Amino acid sequence: MKISVIGLGYLGATHAVAMAKLGHEVIGIEPDESRLSALQSGKVPFFEPGLEEALLEVQKSGTLTFQSAHDEASAACELHFLCVGTPQLADSNAADTSHVFAAASELAAFISLDAVVAGKSTVPVGTAQQLKDEMSKIAGFEVNLAWNPEFLREGTALEDSLKPDRIVVGTWDREAESKLREVYQPILETGTPFISLDVPTAELVKVAANSFLATKISFINAMAEVAEVSGADTVALAEAIGFDERIGKKFLRNGVGFGGGCLPKDIRAFIARAEELGVGSAVDFLKDIDEVNLRRRDRVVELARQDLKDLRDKRILVLGISFKPDSDDLRDSPSLDVALRLSALGAKVAVHDPMALGALGDRHPELERAKDIEAGAKDAELIFLGTEWSEYKSIEPASFGDLVANKLIIDGRNVLDVVSWQAAGWRLIALGRNVHN
Ligand code: UGA
Repeated sequence: MKISVIGLGYLGATHAVAMAKLGHEVIGIEPDESRLSALQSGKVPFFEPGLEEALLEVQKSGTLTFQSAHDEASAACELHFLCVGTPQLADSNAADTSHVFAAASELAAFISLDAVVAGKSTVPVGTAQQLKDEMSKIAGFEVNLAWNPEFLREGTALEDSLKPDRIVVGTWDREAESKLREVYQPILETGTPFISLDVPTAELVKVAANSFLATKISFINAMAEVAEVSGADTVALAEAIGFDERIGKKFLRNGVGFGGGCLPKDIRAFIARAEELGVGSAVDFLKDIDEVNLRRRDRVVELARQDLKDLRDKRILVLGISFKPDSDDLRDSPSLDVALRLSALGAKVAVHDPMALGALGDRHPELERAKDIEAGAKDAELIFLGTEWSEYKSIEPASFGDLVANKLIIDGRNVLDVVSWQAAGWRLIALGRNVHN
């Protein structure tokens, strides 16, 4: 099928590559010049395991090409995927949907009568109807819009796109549904469920799923707050409750909390949208979910202050600044936030990350960039592990030698082996666990 993918960020770039891998002829459209030229020269402008190799493969076979705007070739596509970002507005909790509306309007001026548009961006419920009305006005006929939310996770984005656990599609029209069944046919053949819904439900599925995931994480972090004052162990608690299949063990890892470009802004946008719809109280609990999450960052700063007292001029090494491992995404990163707050309190903070220092660029010059873990650890009085990259999980306490005189480490992700660190003479503080020596 000839398709276009509009907006080539994490979602769009991955989707474009995935669609080309399925054998479709894909035109990727991206107005940002530097992102476009990177992609055109076979470079993925962010770190996502396996994506660049797959991009080169489909570029070589000619099934994926990139351009900055619509032209005759993109206008001739049968299916257009809208993958434009919806970040949080600077001055409110709500999502900024202006980029989606702009991209949809540009498309409407080119779109052919029988084409289908599938929105994949995460939008407030009700947005698709407004988009459809606006596009139809511009096109001069009723545009066939569907909603097809995406559930990929950074770090496993391509795998999640090619082997999703479900494909969710909201349509007003059978034609759109069959077009989407056709484009995903190779995935559906492997037994992936295709869930056909009305459009508002499809929009809501995405926001509900991310809200539920955020709730699970904040639930276990709330338990961590209780565990910290009652002598209990949150990791053991999560394991024990997780054996109940109705609860499950996934997304119950307590620590410094959730971040990234999705969970935090999606729960806030949901709160804002529910308030607009007059049902704010229905999702009021999400404010607590957000607050529990942010309190975990306060907790790390508080632990550092309790131990080091005055932070001024104290050297601290932060291991990991991306919001999760296998990603260089710094959006709303809990670990980077903690690093900046420790620095604002006068500490000399060095940050290390296997991939994300490039994404940090020259922002936050107050943070020293550690060229390796040893260099960052020299004379540090505290190490804070904020992102559980695999190379940190396997780190041996002995590898620090005598670099860290104070031998104090806060494990913000509960990945270090408490017994071996303590046996090596370290004081290890693990969030939500009373294991301190
Ligand atoms: C999330 C959802 O998981 C995807 O399904 C969704 O498609 C995506 O948002 C999106 O809306 O585009 P992602 O942001 O890539 O994916 O990251 P997650 O794996 O969900 O992790 C989010 C944050 O929660 C990370 O900071 C992670 O460290 C934290 N987390 C996760 C925990 O603190 N504890 C856990 O048990 C799990």
